[in-house]
Amino acid sequence: MSLADDTLPLARAGRRIPIHDAEGFEGMRVAGRLAAQCLDMLGPHVKPGVSTLELDRLAREFILDHKALPACIFYRGYGHTLCISPNHVVCHGIPGDRPLREGDIANIDVTVIVEGGWHGDTSRMYLVGEVAPRARRLVEVTYEALERGLAAVRPGARLGDIGHAIQSYVEAQRCSVVRDFCGHGVGKVFHDAPEILHYGRPGAGVELREGMFFTVEPMVNLGRPQVKILADGWTAVTRDKSLSAQCEHSVGVTADGCERFTESPTGQFKTF
Ligand code: MF3
Ligand code: CO
Ligand code: CO
Repeated sequence: MSLADDTLPLARAGRRIPIHDAEGFEGMRVAGRLAAQCLDMLGPHVKPGVSTLELDRLAREFILDHKALPACIFYRGYGHTLCISPNHVVCHGIPGDRPLREGDIANIDVTVIVEGGWHGDTSRMYLVGEVAPRARRLVEVTYEALERGLAAVRPGARLGDIGHAIQSYVEAQRCSVVRDFCGHGVGKVFHDAPEILHYGRPGAGVELREGMFFTVEPMVNLGRPQVKILADGWTAVTRDKSLSAQCEHSVGVTADGCERFTESPTGQFKTF
């Protein structure tokens, strides 16, 4: 996800929104499938004791073996293939030596670039061993929030309809939606217009059109929505240290809804 516009040096909100053709859909299918397969591949490796750096290495080798590139390695000095965000980390967790532990929940986010320059961007939640019921519930709420957001995507609907569908559901579950990061247009550009806010008012904002490509990637907290960025300049954590979860699809607007480019070919988007 990307920083919402007021904190972003290169404002995206005013930029024109690309409309893609059949060739774009084909490119995104290839990119989205590889990103999804990378997250499928990681599943069995997400176990107590594995370091997030080891998972990063597995993902990098998988992507390079498939003649694609990890988009984040070259992105604004980030330097890794994955973002791995455990527990109270909201997003942009940097892989490191710390092992995952029984009971952790962790988001793993990957973006690949395939031939032609198309970006496949997706993330899922992984449950490490047995997790507490409230952690599992947060993850379930987050997946349902993404479903509700995607259900609002069709030509003629507005961006605010997506945000409202997510926000109204999440808050009814007594969780909160993170405001500081948003989804984004995606295609040959990693983070393009439009910004996809995960909160909003029905009927507000830009009208969706067939051929728009973007991510929906709600971040949901058990506690309050506020985040802070750690001294490494990337890691975003909840200010109140409450648990946070996220999941993400890259989609294209079709005549009657949307196509999910990053669906798992083996049905493992829901990893648990
Ligand atoms: N994949 C993230 C997204 O969903 C972006 C990560 S940027 C990075 O948009 F530099 F932190 F990797
Ligand atoms: Co994204
Ligand atoms: Co992502």
